Amino acid sequence: MEKIYASMKSIASYVPKNCISNADFEKILDTSDEWITKRTGIKTRYFADDDEDSSALGVKAAEIAIKRAGMQSSDIDLVICATLSPDYLGMPSNACLISSRLGIENKPAFDITTACSGFIYLLSLAKSFIESHTYSNILIVGAEKISSILDFSDRSTCVLFGDGAGAAVIGSTKNENERIVDVNISANGKYNDFLMTPRCLGTKLHFSNEFSVSQVDKIHSYLKMKGNETFKLAVKTLANDVKEILLKNDINIKDVSYFIPHQANLRIINAVGDMIEIDPSKVVITVQKYGNTSAASIPMAIDDIYKNGRLKKGDLLLLDAFGGGLTWGSSLLYFNGE
Ligand code: UT7
Repeated sequence: MEKIYASMKSIASYVPKNCISNADFEKILDTSDEWITKRTGIKTRYFADDDEDSSALGVKAAEIAIKRAGMQSSDIDLVICATLSPDYLGMPSNACLISSRLGIENKPAFDITTACSGFIYLLSLAKSFIESHTYSNILIVGAEKISSILDFSDRSTCVLFGDGAGAAVIGSTKNENERIVDVNISANGKYNDFLMTPRCLGTKLHFSNEFSVSQVDKIHSYLKMKGNETFKLAVKTLANDVKEILLKNDINIKDVSYFIPHQANLRIINAVGDMIEIDPSKVVITVQKYGNTSAASIPMAIDDIYKNGRLKKGDLLLLDAFGGGLTWGSSLLYFNGE
């Protein structure tokens, strides 16, 4: 069979309209713009409307991604969505909801749950499916409405996150300089309690006479994080992961056009940037605007430099993410969008 490579043909994002500033949190919590800015770099984040679910955000990003790839919905033969805040727990998947709203029928669609590493895992899956000639054009979407699972009485988590979506179309190329060079993914469930959304209606928690729906919701529905432990492990893991993928592919950090890490905390981004010795002007930072949008953060950051004209076809991108599970991963790819 002819050798083909997976290739990122487009990138897109969607940011909901409600901008929430640090000053807005000062009104409801014992916090300050100074603390949030100094400890995280975040100044604003955007929250979706009550009736705007994560799949709706995903559809908006997906429509733009398909258009920018010069395609129509009918050209897409697989849809995969990464989310930790799906419309429904269990079923239907966000990917099915997104497909249906795009008019895609009788094509496979499924979700993955790898938290903030979602987009890297999506790239890994799409690369395998394309290079094995299983599918031709894959729509990958990271879509999050994290505002719906935040505990607004917990200042150590609720100020950190935002809503949003990012999407890309992954197709094929025969040109090595247009390919997704490599994707590394990994996980260690030993640290599963560092980041959790224990809104569990699955195997661990069943509605019973002892629990009413409202009690279950109140006790278990919110995102919880051991911030400090996560921070330390994130810096070490991300830096090692980046060094490994560069070495494995014999690519020098100087040849990377942009380093686009998961946007959780400016201090993590800066620490990793220093450890991998990348030119700071090549580090893409959007956390100050959008906060942490989990699976949507990397595609939103890629689209940020696309929209402002900095990203060009042929640029070599280095992506890196870390999240609940714990999961992590990195990727090297030549951007192949117009
Ligand atoms: O996306 C997946 C991966 N996620 C991450 O990688 C996030 C990793 N973690 C972090 O970004 C940081 O650990 C946080 C931003 C969550 C917290 O920053 P920190 O510098 O690690 O602070 P800390 O948790 O050690 O807390 C220091 C102090 C505490 O007060 P005391 O105990 O020293 O009196 C907290 O209660 O800061 C306090 N604090 C706050 N103060 C004002 C925590 N949150 C706030 C807040 N406003 N919003």
